[in-house]
Amino acid sequence: KNVAIIMGGYSSEYQISLTSGGVVYSNLDKSKYTAYKVHIFKEKWVYVDDSGAEFPINKNDFSVVVSGKTITFDVVFNAIHGTPGEDGLMQAYFELLGIPQTSCDYYQSALTFNKRDLLSVLKPYGIKTATSYYLNWGDVIDADLIIKTVSLPCFVKPNKSGSSFGISKVKTKDELLPAIENAYKEDNEIIIESFLDGVEVSVGVINYKGKVTVLPITEIVSENDFFDYEAKYLGKSKEITPARITDDVHARVSATAKKAYEILKMKGFSRSEFIIVNNEPYMLEMNTVPGLTTESILPQQARQAGISLSELFSNAIDLALN
Ligand code: DAL
Ligand code: MG
Repeated sequence: KNVAIIMGGYSSEYQISLTSGGVVYSNLDKSKYTAYKVHIFKEKWVYVDDSGAEFPINKNDFSVVVSGKTITFDVVFNAIHGTPGEDGLMQAYFELLGIPQTSCDYYQSALTFNKRDLLSVLKPYGIKTATSYYLNWGDVIDADLIIKTVSLPCFVKPNKSGSSFGISKVKTKDELLPAIENAYKEDNEIIIESFLDGVEVSVGVINYKGKVTVLPITEIVSENDFFDYEAKYLGKSKEITPARITDDVHARVSATAKKAYEILKMKGFSRSEFIIVNNEPYMLEMNTVPGLTTESILPQQARQAGISLSELFSNAIDLALN
């Protein structure tokens, strides 16, 4: 089978995506699949061969001509974090073309990428979330009302982004406006959440061999103020798998993450983030194209579950094809 591994993307996360895509490429079972690296950038969509030569993708059918021969793809492995790989755009494109891909469907992708909409959908099912305040670009910013609603400290986040780009922890009223301006650099919608003082955990839920499976849970201990970009990718955090939580809390967090996956009728990968306060999980977000770099959490969790990267990726491709 010809597998196109798509990577790059149009967001601040493109570099991380290139690393994730590279990890997928090097770990794909070459006896089962023929893998092609495909870079998706605003300026160009290209197949990149091992020498670095680039061949333009025909967007009408996602084929590519190499040495006079047309190559088509049986399946797409999606390693694009952020837009257009994690917000439904590529999913809808491939669905129209009839090419299966490894992440969830376009609606789930668009919904989960929008933190506000995701949490609004899950809340009535009993999934707890932080107290929040939302802003759209152009809205009047009433700092007193915001602080009255979410209290301090609080988190200011772009509504649609990843890898903590544009996120700030705000401790004083003076810090609020600069934090909002910073978040607006990533998205035209802002989500401001109360600070949850608890244990942060990351929960991978995947469909493994046809069964919704919760991977070992990871506890995140950040050396920085929160699990920011530096903590995520520059080693400024400890990720402890399995998390040091009681069996009871473990059961609750697993059940909540699994429930969210099932409510949304997810497919493929997911990695949800929670803060546990008084033994109760509060959901922050769900990532549907989680990082697959060597620093990333989901690969560590899979390894702990006894699933090699090669098996993890084969499983995703086989499910997409079925
Ligand atoms: N958004 C990053 C890649 C993650 O969730 O791992
Ligand atoms: Mg995220």
